[in-house]
Amino acid sequence: MHIEQTKIVSIKEVQSHTFLLSIQSEYFAGTTNPGQFFNIKVSDNNFPLLRRPFSVCDVDGDIISFLFDVHGEGTKILSKKKPGDDLDVFGPLGNGFNYSSDFQTAIIVAGGLGVAPFPFLLKKIPADKPVFSFVGARNSNQLITYGIKNTKLSTDDGSAGFRGNVVQLLKNEIHNINGVKKIFACGPNVMLRSLVEWTTSIGIETEISVECAMACGFGICQGCPTEKSDKSGYLLVCKDGPVFNSQEIVI
Ligand SMILES: Cc1cc2nc3c(=O)[nH]c(=O)nc-3n(C[C@H](O)[C@H](O)[C@H](O)COP(=O)(O)OP(=O)(O)OC[C@H]3O[C@@H](n4cnc5c(N)ncnc54)[C@H](O)[C@@H]3O)c2cc1C
Ligand code: FES
Repeated sequence: MHIEQTKIVSIKEVQSHTFLLSIQSEYFAGTTNPGQFFNIKVSDNNFPLLRRPFSVCDVDGDIISFLFDVHGEGTKILSKKKPGDDLDVFGPLGNGFNYSSDFQTAIIVAGGLGVAPFPFLLKKIPADKPVFSFVGARNSNQLITYGIKNTKLSTDDGSAGFRGNVVQLLKNEIHNINGVKKIFACGPNVMLRSLVEWTTSIGIETEISVECAMACGFGICQGCPTEKSDKSGYLLVCKDGPVFNSQEIVI
């Protein structure tokens, strides 16, 4: 990991309040794995003081992309950047998805902006392994499917796709998916919890990308603990994650 002054290549609003930001960095492009994240300094002054973490969304040549929602001041400042602006970026941080393990069929499960880490992962999953994607949101305006393929949708209010949540949708569809399955999931904790309860009961290997408030982003401040499943202690989301095997932690 290192800090680099990168250049913004493009920034566009792909949906209301959701932006795709692309920077150029040969070093980052060559060293980043799907599921890792970067800590971005969003302003040139000391406000906000802390960098903000974002999953790598895609890598194409020497271009790295991030998909982000505007939540508070930090992401608002970031959304106002222009192509050609400098951006101070630290990473790559954390681990990443294990896409080389012994599975035959990949299943992507994303809630809301949980799709963010998957375009890059999809490029790395071997071409002979089929991929099925399930994306859920509260309503059709909040559905984001950027870079995802072979996708079934769910919305809580039924305004697009299946009416209900994305885990219910997957439960309905799982019998149509053959082979030894592995699930890669990212989204709100409530979604991950319900997914993991079910996949544990039926024995499907599941990796989850977890979010929490972070400060340093690389294991120094101890500010992002998550409890181990066997209750023997804590792991750090920034250093030991953000991707965990679902059996490793209490979600
Ligand atoms: C490992 C990791 C990867 C992430 N990847 C992405 C990504 O790819 N795209 C993306 O848009 N965001 C991602 N996030 C979340 C992102 O870092 C936060 O949205 C951002 O830091 C908010 O900064 P802010 O200054 O705009 O908001 P703040 O002023 O810090 O917070 C404003 C509001 O947003 C809420 N908020 C803050 N953090 C989060 C969060 N993690 N989830 C939901 N609400 C939050 C706060 O509770 C508060 O209500 C990731 C977080 C982590 C830890
Ligand atoms: S954010 Fe500092 S240890 Fe994880």
